[in-house]
Amino acid sequence: EIAGEQVERAPVVTVMGHVDHGKTSLLDYIRETRVAAGESGGITQHIGAYHVETGHGMVSFLDTPGHAAFTAMRARGAQLTDIVILVVAADDGVMPQTEEAVDHAKAAGVPLVIAVNKIDKEDADPDRVKNELAQRDVIPEDWGGDVQFVNVSAKTGEGIDQLLDAVLLQSELLELTAIPEASGRGVVVESRLDKGRGPVATLLVQNGTLNQGDIVLAGLQYGRVRAMLDENGKPVKAAGPSIPVEILGLDGTPGAGEEFTVVSNEKKAREVALFRQGKYREVKLQRQQQ
Ligand code: GTP
Ligand code: NA
Ligand code: MG
Repeated sequence: EIAGEQVERAPVVTVMGHVDHGKTSLLDYIRETRVAAGESGGITQHIGAYHVETGHGMVSFLDTPGHAAFTAMRARGAQLTDIVILVVAADDGVMPQTEEAVDHAKAAGVPLVIAVNKIDKEDADPDRVKNELAQRDVIPEDWGGDVQFVNVSAKTGEGIDQLLDAVLLQSELLELTAIPEASGRGVVVESRLDKGRGPVATLLVQNGTLNQGDIVLAGLQYGRVRAMLDENGKPVKAAGPSIPVEILGLDGTPGAGEEFTVVSNEKKAREVALFRQGKYREVKLQRQQQ
């Protein structure tokens, strides 16, 4: 079924780091919106997924919370991603969730780009950040290592172009490709039950293309994609490789990190989903009806 040409795809970049070091602010600056200001108490509670035409090529970003309670989300973020941008506030230095993010990225074998943020602050000390990370085996290029460090300010925008250049350079080294003509497959980023719209799942397409009307099997759930929305809530008909989308139409909320695939036969999808849910009696009934 995978006929088609391998073509270059956009990198999927997860932004990680200690709480309040400026991950969402940095993404806001890149997207020119005001997400952090609208969050309750300025605390990210979930993984936000966006794709952005940066002027340096397209990049898909996953934002993660830095709060200590969200270890599992950071671990998942590291696994979903091609590159991790590790945000470290230059006035605060390496903190527990900074170290944890380094560990997750290393465990997942994902390259790091370090954004030394809040460089606009008077007490910013970027050399301290370099020292502290070097002690954890994250060695800056200018010290003979292979990790790019970029000084940035999410407040003034200083260094953000260089950060995007560093990400795109890292991405070129990875030679990321996908086959847009293939049927869509990827991972569930997150899902929730919306009062009006029913189950809503954010999916990251990793290969192929997901189309409105496709039958999707996602973890324990299945359904026909009734509608797809981009990160701005705008309806879209199709999502290709590296693109995150919200979909409506699943029969429940699949677990974050579960894989999804497009399948050709709705009955088969239902059967597999029921089987995965342990509803063997219903699988049997369905088979008898056929
Ligand atoms: P969590 O998602 O809660 O982990 O936080 P976060 O890392 O997303 O940080 P957030 O973007 O919410 O920023 C935390 C605070 O730092 C906010 O008050 C921002 O305005 C401020 N801030 C972020 N970046 C900068 C910067 O470059 N300079 C200055 N001066 N303040 C910044
Ligand atoms: Na915050
Ligand atoms: Mg945040």
